Amino acid sequence: MAKEAKIIIEGKEYTYPVIEGTEGEKAIDIRTFRKDSGYITYDEGYGNTGSCQSEISFINGEEGILRHRGYAIEDLAENSDFIEVAYLVIYGELPTVSERETFSQKIRNNAMIHMSMNHLFEGVPNDAPPMAILSSMLNSLGCYYKEYATNNPQHDLEHFDDAVAITMSKVRTIAAMTYRMSNGLPFIYPKMGLRYVENFLHMMFSNPYNEYSHEPEVAKALNVLLLLHADHEQNCSTSTVRMVASSGANLFPSVASAVCALWGPLHGGANMAVIQMLESIAASGDDGSQFIEDAKSGRHGKRLMGFGHRVYRNYDPRAKILGKYCDKLLEAIGIDDQLLTIARNLEQAALKDDYFVERKLYPNVDFYSGIIMRAIGIPLSMFTVMFAIGRMPGWIANWREVASNDKGRIYRPRQIYQGPTAPRKFLQMADRPEK
Ligand code: SDX
Repeated sequence: MAKEAKIIIEGKEYTYPVIEGTEGEKAIDIRTFRKDSGYITYDEGYGNTGSCQSEISFINGEEGILRHRGYAIEDLAENSDFIEVAYLVIYGELPTVSERETFSQKIRNNAMIHMSMNHLFEGVPNDAPPMAILSSMLNSLGCYYKEYATNNPQHDLEHFDDAVAITMSKVRTIAAMTYRMSNGLPFIYPKMGLRYVENFLHMMFSNPYNEYSHEPEVAKALNVLLLLHADHEQNCSTSTVRMVASSGANLFPSVASAVCALWGPLHGGANMAVIQMLESIAASGDDGSQFIEDAKSGRHGKRLMGFGHRVYRNYDPRAKILGKYCDKLLEAIGIDDQLLTIARNLEQAALKDDYFVERKLYPNVDFYSGIIMRAIGIPLSMFTVMFAIGRMPGWIANWREVASNDKGRIYRPRQIYQGPTAPRKFLQMADRPEK
């Protein structure tokens, strides 16, 4: 017998079907609830609300499981690289040799931005926040690549592969250009023949008179860091993509709006906040124990940044993997980072502390990612930009799910009004009493 849910309001019974996901998640389908009962449900922060059915990623927060299209994140981190995982997330299958080559070639062919976009950089202050630059530059792609940004989802889907290559490739180039501009350095053009991450490092750190070289572990660590960010169900920025895409907007403004959502300190800004937290602990001479007490009491608004998660009530599997890569990378490049020692102390202390244990607060993806980026030489101001590069495949894949759903509806949540009641008498300004 099909599962059902019954809601009884003022003695009247309403029955709704249960939707079950392929991994056993269950939802009550209440799409007719307001029409049937005049009531809406209320779930601030959407912690208990499914906004869509998706085939891209699956998280089991209780068990600390993350899979993309059925593949475990641990397998992908061990055996794959960022571009291959991007292809999997976007197109649903791991690429064959020829599919991978075609995808990589399209990305290589789109590595340069439109020359007129350089003028946009000229108009931006050198110390502008990189995430502000990134969101505006991504949105401006719709000015230079109009044929892929018609806001006619059918047309835009027919040109999807090109829009994917443009977005995947140019987000990396724009990021590198932002870094160069903010440091008063000349832009470095992408170099044919370099793979995605290596070309990014080249555009970031090479100079006209010498080419940046690095240990293989640097590219490997950055590859893993990016692929671990590839997608993560309906997090704040990905849900933003779906919200914007649901109006029929094309890929460029949809991912640009996601950058804006990701910028917040509770979301993508946390990787910066973790390093700032570790630096402040180091500067204060605290070994982390005082900070933990402050974070527990919320004193001075302190939180243990990089800890806790809306969905994971266990270790974020990405944090485990990144923790291992911290050690590998720092050893390979001969760095002994005091902040890593403090991070390890905080982790060990928090995992034994009732406050964190009772609230099921564990390290999340942001806890170690900053240590890796710092070791590579990526400045704090670029940390969330790196998160955006990594999350681009997930944003693209979610845009495609919305655009492809010809039965889809524009996202338009309801609310409960708590403002002044009507009717209030309008007074001309002269008649309004001063406060
Ligand atoms: C990302 O959604 C995603 O998938 C996001 C992400 C992705 O890949 O897209 O995984 C990336 O954003 C990771 C999260 C990065 N943010 C941080 O590390 C910031 C620090 N973490 C917290 O602010 C918090 O844990 C959130 C925002 C991540 C989750 O917040 P929730 O689910 O709304 O939890 P909450 O604020 O309701 O906290 C529940 C309790 C509260 O205590 P009580 O009111 O029960 O006494 O836990 C406490 C909170 O005070 N708490 C913390 C804490 N996180 C939660 N206390 C101290 N330090 C923390 N980090």
